[in-house]
Amino acid sequence: MLLIKTGGPAMAEEWRGYFAEFRPSMRTASFDAPEATPEEAEYALCWEPPPGWLASLPRLRAIFSIGAGVDHITLDPTWPRHLPLVRMGGEETGQRMGEYVAWACLSLLRNARHFALNQAVARWEYEPGEFTARDRTVGIMGLGTLGVACVPMLRGLGFPVRGWTRSPKRVEGVETFAGPAGLDEFLAGTQILVCLLPATPETNGIVDARLLAQLPRGAAVVNAARGAHVVLSDLIAVLDSGHLAGAVLDAFEPEPLAADSPVWSHPKVTITPHVASIARRRERARFVTDAIADFEAGKPLPNLYDPVRGY
Ligand code: NAP
Ligand code: GLV
Repeated sequence: MLLIKTGGPAMAEEWRGYFAEFRPSMRTASFDAPEATPEEAEYALCWEPPPGWLASLPRLRAIFSIGAGVDHITLDPTWPRHLPLVRMGGEETGQRMGEYVAWACLSLLRNARHFALNQAVARWEYEPGEFTARDRTVGIMGLGTLGVACVPMLRGLGFPVRGWTRSPKRVEGVETFAGPAGLDEFLAGTQILVCLLPATPETNGIVDARLLAQLPRGAAVVNAARGAHVVLSDLIAVLDSGHLAGAVLDAFEPEPLAADSPVWSHPKVTITPHVASIARRRERARFVTDAIADFEAGKPLPNLYDPVRGY
């Protein structure tokens, strides 16, 4: 049996419909439904599982995260660490993140926020933009599954791309930097900084005043990862100082961003409500079904969380 903990009963039913389509023999239930018998659960698919819930499933064999990030699971100190934890994958997750990051970089390049503000007040102001994509290097912090998926789209638009990772990494067409020793040089040559890191103790609050000051004047920031990566008050101060030109932010801490937050109306900030890469549920159900089939055939699970690295 697969137990599903997601955004409410209607969503759980939608997920169940897809699993019934892809693997009719697999029993599924919403985690809080009467037919959800904890002792029969072999798999759990979840977003923000209630603390202690995963540990209460005695026959659990694997945990699937509804998203690519698993911080919403690992922050429960009781989560069963001996079990495989699968991060959401599949072609669509990468495609959507690539689209979002390409859109955000083009928006910053062409000053879309400025035109949106002008349109709201019917102001015709000629501003053709100073740069082309070829003049603005995109620096991606985190060249994992999603960071790498962004590369061909950005390069296809003409942006030179560089990347920063924890361990040294080679990615075709990308100038790479690694670890704390490589960070300063990476930042110095980055005009659009894209955060695609996982949320870990090392990356919490990494985009702070000190880091932002190392970007060249006129640079911009895209955060498509987690709100905890960015010290929002530092970012706003650096935008207001004139050092940074703009930001596109998809993730906040906490979410939703408070209705009275001044960030909503900041003239240099574009906000999206954590939608950078949310693959369709049917595609995610297909990924989970295929992974379970492989697992039961003795093949390795894809996209596994590594408890040693912490992501
Ligand atoms: P991933 O495959 O685990 O890749 C993580 C990358 O970050 C790797 O390149 C890793 O370096 C690097 N990294 C980790 N810790 C680091 C550190 N301390 N210093 C430097 N680099 C570090 O993750 P992913 O699948 O690409 O996803 C990234 C994140 O995107 C997720 O964790 C999630 O938070 C976020 N996300 C957001 C949305 C949204 O809609 N907003 C959707 C999906 C995912 P190595 O290559 O050396 O391991
Ligand atoms: C969304 O934020 C995800 O982690 O997939």
